[in-house]
Amino acid sequence: MAEDFLPFTRPTLDEETIAGVVEVLRSGWITSGPNVQRFEALLSEYCGGRPVRALAHGTGALELALDIAGVGPGDEVITTPLTWVATANVILRAGARPVLVDVDPKTRLIDLDLAEKAITPRTRAIIPVDLAGLPVDRDRLYEIAGRHKLRVIEDAAQSLGSRHRGRPIGSFGDLVCFSFHANKNLTTAEGGCLVLNTPEEARRCELMRLQGVVRLPDGEQEVEFAGAKLNLTDIAARIGLGQMARIAEFNKRRRVLARRYFDRIDPACGLELPPEDDGDTNWHIPARHAGQRHRRRRALPRPAPVQAVPGPGLPRGGLPARRAHRRLDRHTAAVPDHAGRGCRPGMRSPA
Ligand SMILES: Cc1ncc(COP(=O)(O)O)c(C=O)c1O
Repeated sequence: MAEDFLPFTRPTLDEETIAGVVEVLRSGWITSGPNVQRFEALLSEYCGGRPVRALAHGTGALELALDIAGVGPGDEVITTPLTWVATANVILRAGARPVLVDVDPKTRLIDLDLAEKAITPRTRAIIPVDLAGLPVDRDRLYEIAGRHKLRVIEDAAQSLGSRHRGRPIGSFGDLVCFSFHANKNLTTAEGGCLVLNTPEEARRCELMRLQGVVRLPDGEQEVEFAGAKLNLTDIAARIGLGQMARIAEFNKRRRVLARRYFDRIDPACGLELPPEDDGDTNWHIPARHAGQRHRRRRALPRPAPVQAVPGPGLPRGGLPARRAHRRLDRHTAAVPDHAGRGCRPGMRSPA
């Protein structure tokens, strides 16, 4: 990679965390164990005491949430086309049909008025996505879901640390899925978690993440059903513990860097920037968007992919406008599903 290239993301791993991981490696207990338990306890505390189960990845959290919500063949699930493709893939893999509704052009989040219009008798759930860390309006979302008796599976993969009206995402609502992939505000290299409502849901999640195996009091094991294999390792959880201690600091720093982009990217260079004044976002990605001018010139599909402005920050003094686009990592952070392979097979976009 060229030296003056701004990368999409870089994890911040401190020496204490690295030493902690070495300790785990030396301990002889490297798969799910005491560090996973400690990590889950911290996550639960962060989520206002709700049950939280750590998982191998955010995709797994979405898969288990769909299972717990009872989504299966014949069901429809309403979601956004502007997301990472995992959101739609898990719906298809559950045998259900993703119903893609368009996004609000300003926030690039699912348009909840269109979402309500897309509800049919087959709709079982809505999966809103807090794209780039910007939270979907939870008041309106849960008002619609409540009125139509739908489950909500929050794809909060990108929004740990974001808030809605002052309340941390994950501390309220229905099923909430976080990702701890290397590019997230909090990372465990690969990892994720599911925030649940009841001890019964938590038990189902525990069994689902480990082959459906029940450990009996006498030490025997029994297979209650064919589960998946989605547990987190203690190595990953130890990284997460080091990161949890710093999440507020990380997000504060992101706020400072996001401010720098707004101050220093010349709007005349043709990039569309996200809403600037939202204090509730964790600034996971201060996303830029190829504006109309770029779309025409480069014949990009509509809407053009949201692309990332990287976390580490612009060089002091900013970038001259004409170089800004060239210098930013062209990593595509979200794929517009309806513009590509995502529509096939079985997806439906309401007209
Ligand atoms: C919006 C969204 N949903 C789901 C996922 C899947 O998370 P993971 O990569 O941890 O499986 C991601 C990860 O990038 C994401 O950004």
